[in-house]
Amino acid sequence: MGELLSMRSVTDVIIGGESSNGLNEASTMEDISKKLSQALWRIYNRSQRPSPWAYGGNLPWDDPQFSARMLREHLDESHGAASRSSKERALQLNWLWDKLQLQPGGKVLDVTCGPGLYATDLAARGCHVTGVDFGPASIAYARQLAATRQLEDRCQFVEADVRTVDYGGHDFDAALFLYGQSTVFTRAETAALLAMVARSLRPGGKLCVEILNQDRIDKRNNRWWYTDDTGLWGDAPYLHLGERFWYEDEKLVLERFHILHLETGQLDEIQLCDQSYAVAEMEEMMLEAGFTAVSVYPAWDNLALYDLNEWVVYVATR
Ligand SMILES: C[S@@+](CC[C@H](N)C(=O)[O-])C[C@H]1O[C@@H](n2cnc3c(N)ncnc32)[C@H](O)[C@@H]1O
Repeated sequence: MGELLSMRSVTDVIIGGESSNGLNEASTMEDISKKLSQALWRIYNRSQRPSPWAYGGNLPWDDPQFSARMLREHLDESHGAASRSSKERALQLNWLWDKLQLQPGGKVLDVTCGPGLYATDLAARGCHVTGVDFGPASIAYARQLAATRQLEDRCQFVEADVRTVDYGGHDFDAALFLYGQSTVFTRAETAALLAMVARSLRPGGKLCVEILNQDRIDKRNNRWWYTDDTGLWGDAPYLHLGERFWYEDEKLVLERFHILHLETGQLDEIQLCDQSYAVAEMEEMMLEAGFTAVSVYPAWDNLALYDLNEWVVYVATR
């Protein structure tokens, strides 16, 4: 997925709710108009420079409706916004098989596994895979995919927050943390998560982390807008207003979206934070987390991925 979705957020429903059934059409219209007006004033009075992490900083992946809409994006082969295409995943899986020294029977942890596209392919190669993700529609799809492919005995999917789930007692041979999700957490959360994953690996086990290349991140402030009646933010007409802020001291991007739902007057505010890391900083974090060696592969080691130059891949050995 591109940079947008590699960030996280929280939905703040400022003016909520459907029109109540008892209202006549005129009063309903009046009610919606009032909500729309209030929403516009709320947008007008927004903070000019929001505080990073104030809303958690992640997309509402664990919201059931958002998760269902996001699943459509994961499975859409026409773009790589949420998951890479099957062709690109096949290239990555061959690379991972080699670099993580995977083999049939190996135990693999997939941190933020999404709809299980990597996990089930690794299971098809004979690995035993545990995928963790808090998107309900993605986890349901992953389980169904494993069943359809008759891989249930080699796949386990856990619906949980990767920051708090118990990874103990597995002795994994390898772990994946793909598509930039580690940067949607604060530095402290990422450090803690890396340490937990390190402890879940057997000595010599390997973790692959893919994060955005700090040098390539767009550091310009920016604004945009569009309208739609389907997509990630809803399936009825809405106005999307977006803003992007670069925080030089923190080396962090914050994107703020205001989504105004025209039929109800509901306003959602979502803030995504994306913490970037210099290569040396991430190497040091991994060593401090309990890994003994880190190999760095800029630009996905030149795999033929559409956005390879945006990424740096780390393979850390416990
Ligand atoms: C860009 S998708 C990538 C999914 C998968 N790795 C792939 O490439 O197909 C990011 C995933 O991270 C998950 N995620 C984000 N924050 C999470 C958290 N705190 N706990 C569990 N899952 C999380 C989302 O639900 C989503 O499935």
